[in-house]
Amino acid sequence: MTTPTWNADSLRRLVQREIGDYRLVVVSNRQPYIHELIEGKLRYVVPAGGLTTALDPLMQECGGTWVAYGGGKGDWYAVDERNRIAVPPDDPQYTLRLVWLTEEQEKGYYYGFSNEALWPLCHNAYTEPVFDAEDWQTYQAVNEEFANQVLDEIDGQPAAVFTQDYHLALLPRRLREADPDIITGQFWHIPWPNPEIFRICPWQTELLDGLLGNDLLGFHIGDHCNNFLETVSRTIDSRVDLDFSLISHHNEPTLVRPFPISVDFEDVCQSAASPYVTDEMERLSDELGLNGMVVGLGIDRIDYTKGIPHRFRAMGRFLEKNPEYIGKVVFVQAGVMSRTSIDAYQQLAEQIDGLLEEINTRFAVRDWKPIIYLPTDLPNVSLLALRRLAQFCVVSSLHDGMNLVAKEYVASRFDEDGVLILSPFTGAAHELTDALIVNPYATEHFADAILEAVEMPYEERRTRMVRMRSIVRENNIYKWAARLLVELMQGARRARRPIRNH
Ligand code: F6P
Repeated sequence: MTTPTWNADSLRRLVQREIGDYRLVVVSNRQPYIHELIEGKLRYVVPAGGLTTALDPLMQECGGTWVAYGGGKGDWYAVDERNRIAVPPDDPQYTLRLVWLTEEQEKGYYYGFSNEALWPLCHNAYTEPVFDAEDWQTYQAVNEEFANQVLDEIDGQPAAVFTQDYHLALLPRRLREADPDIITGQFWHIPWPNPEIFRICPWQTELLDGLLGNDLLGFHIGDHCNNFLETVSRTIDSRVDLDFSLISHHNEPTLVRPFPISVDFEDVCQSAASPYVTDEMERLSDELGLNGMVVGLGIDRIDYTKGIPHRFRAMGRFLEKNPEYIGKVVFVQAGVMSRTSIDAYQQLAEQIDGLLEEINTRFAVRDWKPIIYLPTDLPNVSLLALRRLAQFCVVSSLHDGMNLVAKEYVASRFDEDGVLILSPFTGAAHELTDALIVNPYATEHFADAILEAVEMPYEERRTRMVRMRSIVRENNIYKWAARLLVELMQGARRARRPIRNH
């Protein structure tokens, strides 16, 4: 007998059963709906990135409050006197509560410690982390501020607080100190490095102590859990039980578990099949000159972990080795610019522009060029259309927790066609083994994988895509949330009984 696939209804029933009288509070740096003031009018945008893609549909089903940084220019005008707003703005389902930060705080905590220290520390992309003492102080102060806002929000009621990501590593400990009855869970959306790498961080003990304020700590894959367990056992006074993936620190347990994040498969699939998307495919094909071409696609936040220069180089090498495809294969790279005030991101932008110029100049024929670069925030309908137009999609991350772009491509291909070229250094490669798995540093192999994707017969494309779709359909975002919630609530209830020695 097969288990029914998780969906919004089954998750809602599970939430009612597991959460009961507890208030559900999600906390993250990035908010799901950013309000901007455009020509004096309030408009909202949905930020790019895996966190919102994964958590917004869940909050819409489960209700509760999402606490996040109010970074939009129009946010102040959108909220009520308690800094709250009901979202989604067009069809409110849950409450968003915003935390205000000064420009200095944003600089030190978000751009500084989170994205110049922790981000490169956790990703093997060979960008040196910057450990600045002032940024660290600001990071601590901002985590404190988030904790105060969360405590104010729950106001002494029973609550389960589900914290997101590396911006808020100190938050769970602060919550536990304030009220040990709060159930605390955290999902770390990026990789966790091995102890040899993590130990270069001057504040490793404080970060680990913060994270061990959680009842449950989730990573995408087992390797990241193992790295974390090993880091803790080498760094901090604790008992680490590798068999149960359980850490006991200050006599308090933290369960460490893998939860591979995913997408709302059915929703993406249905949206991709909409007639608006078909119209958009036509429009984009005309505008970008894609008619009659084999289209390859990349969609990424422009980040040095995504291996964008590596895929451009592979595309150049593919054309060099297979000149018969000049004028016939075109690669579209879409994606939003990100964290542009950080040096490493400015350098990446320059590197991308340089490669683009070099490769496009070298292979251009009449009005055809091999790479079309669209570094803008495209609407969802255009992204869906591009996924459907693309015979192959490239995800060439140098290191990535999961990578939802890969799963979104698979979910969009309701026609069961299309080839995914996927880096083995993504969490997604553990599940999507029918992709063409290729090391982005190995340009020669990468170029050959592009050739394989271009020449793969339809029957093989279909067989592989059908298998990948059944994996993403089954392991969807509702299953991710359900597993997490059950482990969090049941683990926390067990933990509140006296801990026995193993
Ligand atoms: O991948 C890690 C992550 O924090 C995601 O959870 C998020 O979607 C993405 O990076 C975007 O980052 P930012 O909020 O800095 O734009």
